[in-house]
Amino acid sequence: MDKYYITTPIYYPSANLHVGHTYCTVMADAMARFKRLCGYDVMFLTGTDEHGQKIQRIADEAGVTPQAYVDGIVAGVKQLWATMEISYDDFIRTTEPRHKVRVQEIFKILYEKGDIYKGKYEGWYCTPCESYWTDKQLVDGKCPDCGRPVEWAQEDSYFFRLSKYQDRVLELLSRTEPTPFLEPETRRNEMIAFVKQGLDDLSVSRGSFDWGIPVPLDDGQVIYVWLDALTNYVTALGFPSFNNESTALYERFWPADVHLVGKEIVRFHSIIWPAMLMSAELPLPRQIRGHGWLLLDGGKISKSKASAARGNVVDPVVLIDRYGVDALKYFLLREYTFGQDGLFTNEAMLGRINGDLANDLGNLLSRTCGMVEKYFGGAVGGGAGGAAAPEDADLAATATSVAAKVEEHMDRFAFNRALEEIWTLVQRSNKYIDETAPWALAKDEAQRGRLEEVLYALCEALRVLSILIHPYMHHSAEEIRRQLGLLAPDAAPDGAPEAAGVAWADAAVWGKEAAYQVTKGAALFPRIDVEAELAALEALA
Ligand code: MSP
Repeated sequence: MDKYYITTPIYYPSANLHVGHTYCTVMADAMARFKRLCGYDVMFLTGTDEHGQKIQRIADEAGVTPQAYVDGIVAGVKQLWATMEISYDDFIRTTEPRHKVRVQEIFKILYEKGDIYKGKYEGWYCTPCESYWTDKQLVDGKCPDCGRPVEWAQEDSYFFRLSKYQDRVLELLSRTEPTPFLEPETRRNEMIAFVKQGLDDLSVSRGSFDWGIPVPLDDGQVIYVWLDALTNYVTALGFPSFNNESTALYERFWPADVHLVGKEIVRFHSIIWPAMLMSAELPLPRQIRGHGWLLLDGGKISKSKASAARGNVVDPVVLIDRYGVDALKYFLLREYTFGQDGLFTNEAMLGRINGDLANDLGNLLSRTCGMVEKYFGGAVGGGAGGAAAPEDADLAATATSVAAKVEEHMDRFAFNRALEEIWTLVQRSNKYIDETAPWALAKDEAQRGRLEEVLYALCEALRVLSILIHPYMHHSAEEIRRQLGLLAPDAAPDGAPEAAGVAWADAAVWGKEAAYQVTKGAALFPRIDVEAELAALEALA
């Protein structure tokens, strides 16, 4: 069985997460679910990045210890992912002993290699980003990542010989075969230009605060939060071996197939992380994928902005509460183009929910089930087997060709294109209802065979859809299967494809079920009164 290892960034528990973080995790979740459905042995890792000066400052301000502070936020993060039904296999916290001991081991590996040395560091320091910058890198005298003021700082520090790996990193970034190491191309070009300017050695310890993992054999220093954080991708797999604990996961899953990250942290993942791995002589991740930001009022949705979101609700818990997990996931995956920034608005979200979900998909299910019940008491078979009309052939051809196209889009992380492709079948099916006009066929007893054929074909299309949408909206997928009689009414399949009887290969098979015993259920997505809802959201924000 092929393996697939996907990671999200580990989030800073400086404040509650917002819909921007949810976006990244939802993409990783959809990919993990998709790969599982395609038969891969998947490892999906997420977690929290809990050390550093910023967290220490916030905790001080709140009058609690950093550990107590992060414990509170992390409980909320885990609750959020539980609510969103994020199917991670492991959640790593950088304050966990299993991580801390291994970060120190990795620090020692780099040190023993001769790639870490002690020196003095000075430069422009951005506290929120935990980054030092040179004069050249500042933009209008401010941090080039977040635009906030920087301060001149100097300290004793250990350094990692990043400069030594400059050529190898450049070669890695320039590689396009078999697949580019970094995508999208715009980010790759940026990083290539960045490396060509020359890489300085990287300060990898701090002496000015103590909320971090101590440098081995030097009590006065803690390990730089990015070195600490990046290693999570291997420490979670049990690397390096410690106390005879198993490294079986590391052997099975490393190297990662993809690190999914936001565009502002591509630099850490595509330059520093590979250089660290080269130094430790470990295999490199296959790919880094940098996504864009969700924007609000012209800027990135940020933790500080989230509380003053001016009319747009960016708290995912509120959105899920109002529209459900599937609707929020669908919107995030369908609306935005991977790699680009996108505007987050209530209007766009409600438009997608009403248009694509309630109208297109929801109506297809309720009309089909309604007609099967009305005309055949809920039971339809493979039809009378008469000569199929052109629209039948077209519907079947559309249905059975979507899966392969979805695979191609998913290969490129084009979630929006994958869903758009799936919706061609939703639309084709709705058009098929208009073309065949079952209500007219029902008036003519001689057309009973044709009517059954038509309704059976619609059930088949819905069955195929229930497989195709499973990675993105498993509740809706399961509800469709339940109404089609493919899932026991009281079954609680928990999102696992096997439990719902879903196999990806079946999406390309027409005529898989010989007959259907349908039970119409509640609407998949209740229609929203947009005006009233917009006003309600405005009042909430
Ligand atoms: N702790 C580091 C990551 C370490 S990974 C070894 C970090 N944390 S973060 O909480 O600030 O950001 C985590 C991720 O959330 C980043 O990939 C970032 O791009 C993403 N997002 C934060 N705000 C976002 C939006 N408004 N839109 C999309 N993604 C956003 O960086």
